[in-house]
Amino acid sequence: MTSDPSGTVALAFSGGLDTTVCVPLIKEEYGYDDVIGVTVDVGQPAKEFDEAEETAEELGLDHYVVDAKEEFADLCLQSVKANGTYQGYPLGTALARPVIANAILEVAEEQGCSALAHGCTGKGNDQLRFEAVWRASDLDVLAPVRELGLTREWENEYAAEKGLPVEGGDGGRWSIDTNLWSRSVEGSELEDPAHVPGEEIYDWTQAPGSAEPETVEIEFEQGEVVAVDGQSQDAVSLVEDLNERAGKHGVGRTDTMEDRMLGLKVRENYEHPAATVLLTAHEALESLVLTQEERSFKTGIDQRWAEKGYEGLVDAPLTKALEGFIEQTQTKVTGTVTVKLDGGQARAVGRESEYAVYSESAASFNEEAVTDDIEQDDATGVAKYHGFQSRLANRVAENVAAKQAEAATDGGEETDTDE
Ligand code: ARG
Repeated sequence: MTSDPSGTVALAFSGGLDTTVCVPLIKEEYGYDDVIGVTVDVGQPAKEFDEAEETAEELGLDHYVVDAKEEFADLCLQSVKANGTYQGYPLGTALARPVIANAILEVAEEQGCSALAHGCTGKGNDQLRFEAVWRASDLDVLAPVRELGLTREWENEYAAEKGLPVEGGDGGRWSIDTNLWSRSVEGSELEDPAHVPGEEIYDWTQAPGSAEPETVEIEFEQGEVVAVDGQSQDAVSLVEDLNERAGKHGVGRTDTMEDRMLGLKVRENYEHPAATVLLTAHEALESLVLTQEERSFKTGIDQRWAEKGYEGLVDAPLTKALEGFIEQTQTKVTGTVTVKLDGGQARAVGRESEYAVYSESAASFNEEAVTDDIEQDDATGVAKYHGFQSRLANRVAENVAAKQAEAATDGGEETDTDE
């Protein structure tokens, strides 16, 4: 906070309780002159925009809506190249935050704002992800909910007192965050890690087994999805359609204990049908075209990439360096994978690529020779050597232990000190 706040604040606005109470508080408590609300479209359901629009109107808030769906969808498809998951979570919320933060910053600069604000608490990841982007600018950053120590209870009372438009109080039973790539549900009874959730928490996925199994063909070019069942499509509708199709089979449910950046563990439930299908297909194709050592090294690189994605640091120098490696590996990730959608699972059941590191005759049980100049018998020497160093090391250790045991018995007999 600057010592002399003035001018207009661009607030990340959803129309929910937190961001609604922020509007008057930014003027009353911080002393800024004006607030504008910015809602960024990363594929939330339409009713969320209606809600934001209505609330803004009732508040007399200048409201901007920015469409960032395409940019976000592209980032999601990039994350597939890194097999991008953090503790089983395909990073929907995490990857959306830098996109949202940048879009809000752009509006703020266009409108000549002097500060940026979000309604995140001090416990979560989103405050860190937003501010990582915003603090690169010259604008001030406000976090009223965190800085003023607001609780939901206080917010509800304040809203009632001020006659602020917040229907349904805290806006529902759970805290839900939805975008193109994932839907997350947390809070209430779900906070108890032992509580077994019912079907009612799901919106994108049917109970597994409610649809007839089907297969879907995913085509990649250099690690990027280019077609589904032979049809090329823009990234946004590709993900939307696949969410619907795989969701019918209950594909892409994750129930996890997540380690947040600040060290808190939280119980998270996610739905991400399209992400699960694409990630499954991509990994299956990599397993066909990459060498064993590329695959094993890439596992570590992918994990590090996902951690940076989770932190909202997709622009970190390390992230870019990891992407250098990832891009190099993806030059061969071209081909088609057949995925079966069945009973809550997406399984790769077929894969083909011109880059397949695979020789059917070499691996076959029906062929005697491995290649023209390698015979099976050539493996005899390899088999003799295999484990040589381990056998040697184990034998040496056994000998030393035997000698020590012998010395202890001898010594015990002679001195007999302790017992
Ligand atoms: N834990 C996830 C993350 O930090 C998602 C949080 C989504 N927020 C919510 N209110 N459900 O990326």
